[in-house]
Amino acid sequence: MEKTDQKQQEYLSLLKDMVKKRTAEKNTPPTYFIFTMGCQMNARDSEKLSGILTKAGMTEGMDEKADLVIYNTCTVRENANEKLYGHLGAVKSMMEDNPDKIIAICGCMMQEADESRRIRDRYPFVNLVFGTHNLWKFPELLYTCIHEEKRIFETPETSDYSDDALPVKRKYVFKSGVNIMYGCDNFCSYCIVPYVRGRERSRRPEDILNEIRSLSGSGVKEVMLLGQNVNSYGRKLSDPVSFAELLEQVCAVDGIQRVRFMTSHPKDLSDDLIRVMQKELKICHHLHLPLQSGSDRILQKMNRHYTKEGYLSLTDKIKNAIPDMALSTDIIVGFPGETEEDFQETLDVVRKVGFQAAFTFIYSKRTGTPAAAMPDQVPPEVIANRFKRLLSLVQELSSRSAGNDLNRVLPVLVEGEDEHREGYLTGRLGNNLMVHFPGRPEEIGNIENIRLTESKGFYYNGIKE
Ligand code: SAH
Ligand code: SF4
Ligand code: F3S
Repeated sequence: MEKTDQKQQEYLSLLKDMVKKRTAEKNTPPTYFIFTMGCQMNARDSEKLSGILTKAGMTEGMDEKADLVIYNTCTVRENANEKLYGHLGAVKSMMEDNPDKIIAICGCMMQEADESRRIRDRYPFVNLVFGTHNLWKFPELLYTCIHEEKRIFETPETSDYSDDALPVKRKYVFKSGVNIMYGCDNFCSYCIVPYVRGRERSRRPEDILNEIRSLSGSGVKEVMLLGQNVNSYGRKLSDPVSFAELLEQVCAVDGIQRVRFMTSHPKDLSDDLIRVMQKELKICHHLHLPLQSGSDRILQKMNRHYTKEGYLSLTDKIKNAIPDMALSTDIIVGFPGETEEDFQETLDVVRKVGFQAAFTFIYSKRTGTPAAAMPDQVPPEVIANRFKRLLSLVQELSSRSAGNDLNRVLPVLVEGEDEHREGYLTGRLGNNLMVHFPGRPEEIGNIENIRLTESKGFYYNGIKE
């Protein structure tokens, strides 16, 4: 797909020299801290930023006292924006102790012209702002900002270059996200993502597979394929490839033992995909399938292109094909014009499907989206009441289905030490639920067979077999 900019390698060398000099002056390397908000896409972008800074010789700090602080922002709901401003207020006071401190902001929220302008005008201590389309240029932007001691604000709307070749510092040794596509073309009427992440672009399968092979070579056992709608992967490539075909190729990579993906749009989930999930043992039995609303009228206004019956027959089909498939979902409460009857339809779907997990959101008006201009915005107190009812139904149903796998022995990818109990580890089942069990830190990164001895609702306790 896009090209790599070779010039950035030169800027990375310049950064390295600069960091070396500072390290000599202060007897310790400068530190960085990245505060990541939002979804898996942002988490992966932060790993790329971290990869560059590590290559440049900086070390990762513990908190916002670091010499370089980067806020990687989200703007999907208003409270995501408020979070950034809260942090900026707090970090300003830390500038006095460290006059060389650099503050950078990137990510989805900076792609909104009003927000980046507000930062420029009202937060003079912010040194660098860049967006989602010029991550590839980070070495140059950071170097220029420090070397020329000037504020840089650069948030282009598109780009010809790609950040796929950037060095990456992974949070986990044994699992990794892999971008298979960027952007979104679906324009759900409430959603700002297509405006801040641009049009849908799929990476070529050979580039994705090369990345996964190299991840496998460096110890990765589980990959999570990332895209806003993975089910429409590859349609626009010059050599079209379906998501189901890509998954088969990913499963064929040696060393990779588990494959996950996110997010699946119900309108594009194919029978081929269900067949591949049935056949390929490496694919985890967990599907995140956002419902958003159970009302046909609201779904249409949301521009989701499916109906309540369509969603229910899809989940039936999946469960018939793969009975232990865990389904999770996203639901928005209080979309403009939502009536009590519409809301009842949502509750009805929740009752019928029996989600393992449902993430519930209060509708948030995003400037520039079609829904922001729709009449009949629902009053906050009505939304709050519905939200409470939805949440208690979701909790009731998920606690009822909890413990379905009690006493079974299942493979668990060990992710780390249990922070609350000494001598215990924590890991994840294929269906995404957590399991805690006694073990030694050396086992982190292994896939172990664990007997599930106690159900705690949204997690299990267990013992190694
Ligand atoms: N591409 C994914 C979703 C990405 S955003 C998909 O289509 O499923 C993650 C979730 O945030 C969405 O599923 C939706 O439930 C929620 N969301 C998006 N915009 C929102 C808004 N304006 N108000 C409230 N929730 C929103
Ligand atoms: Fe937003 Fe819809 Fe795209 Fe998901 S599919 S990112 S909800 S526009
Ligand atoms: Fe937020 Fe951007 Fe993800 S708006 S949800 S971080 S794509």
